[in-house]
Amino acid sequence: MPRIALVTYDPLPEPSHDRDLPVLREALAAAGAGADVVHWDDDTVDWAAYDLALIRSTWDYSWRTAEFVAWAERCGKVTRLANPAAIVRWNTDKRYLGELGEVGVPVVSTRYLPPGAAPDLPDEHEYVIKPTSGAGARYAARYTPDRHEAAVRHLARMHDEGFTAMVQPYVRSIDTRGERALQFFGGRLLHASRKQAVLAPGAAFDAQKVAHPGLEPWTATEAELAVAERALAAVPDAHGLLYARVDLVDGEDGEPRVMELELVEPNLFLFLHPGSVERVVAAVLAEAELGRGRS
Ligand SMILES: Nc1ncnc2c1ncn2[C@@H]1O[C@H](COP(=O)(O)OP(=O)(O)O)[C@@H](O)[C@H]1O
Ligand SMILES: [Mg+2]
Repeated sequence: MPRIALVTYDPLPEPSHDRDLPVLREALAAAGAGADVVHWDDDTVDWAAYDLALIRSTWDYSWRTAEFVAWAERCGKVTRLANPAAIVRWNTDKRYLGELGEVGVPVVSTRYLPPGAAPDLPDEHEYVIKPTSGAGARYAARYTPDRHEAAVRHLARMHDEGFTAMVQPYVRSIDTRGERALQFFGGRLLHASRKQAVLAPGAAFDAQKVAHPGLEPWTATEAELAVAERALAAVPDAHGLLYARVDLVDGEDGEPRVMELELVEPNLFLFLHPGSVERVVAAVLAEAELGRGRS
């Protein structure tokens, strides 16, 4: 019987909001696997006892990034980790978006302002400020040029906390055409979803946000698939990917651009795509089989 660790975080005192986790655990158990739900930062877990540690919903990592990456590296030494630690390290720092752009992948144009950089902000169009180690739109906000002072305060606050900021034009098409999430699993497209815009005009960077408003199933277009595949091919150590979500928006020219590559802990949205569960289970079991020899 393959032993699989489904890796999440300790949400207490909140309940877990990971809707995929119970579905996945049950489906793996029904397929004959031993699937345990474990916290990544639980020191009592014996990672070597598992054939596979599958990162699922380690949602506190964006404010504990160094600790999390160190855990991934330790865990990946004693068991098969999906995705592998090198990919986790690369993907937890959104400077990867600039790297993808440099090798010709269409991405949302991005400037990086590390702590100490001058607040050089656009004065001709609306823009977004967000951190390089974010998730769930944490610390993200949009600004029109007349709100320069609020933007500078946001930037200063991020820099004080040691975050590098990303500055992007506000992608206007998101208000009408939304953002599309192409989920890959086991090397193939699993499904696609679409969500509406997250950033409300004038909202403060620390306001509560709904991470996936208006989520619905989506049929990926040829153009979306082509951009997603180019992005995935440009990932260092791409052959090690078990899963990947590519988030796309349309640029001013109407062509898809990468907003985010989620290679650490993507929501799989299985409740929207119940037919996907079987394929996920098959891919996870195949991955666990590869890890079997190690434990
Ligand atoms: N340049 C942008 N233009 C328009 N909306 C944006 C932009 N950047 C971020 N957003 C909005 O903020 C959300 C979160 O940003 P994202 O870069 O996906 O980071 P994360 O999901 O890791 O928090 C996006 O889903 C999108 O709705
Ligand atoms: Mg996102």
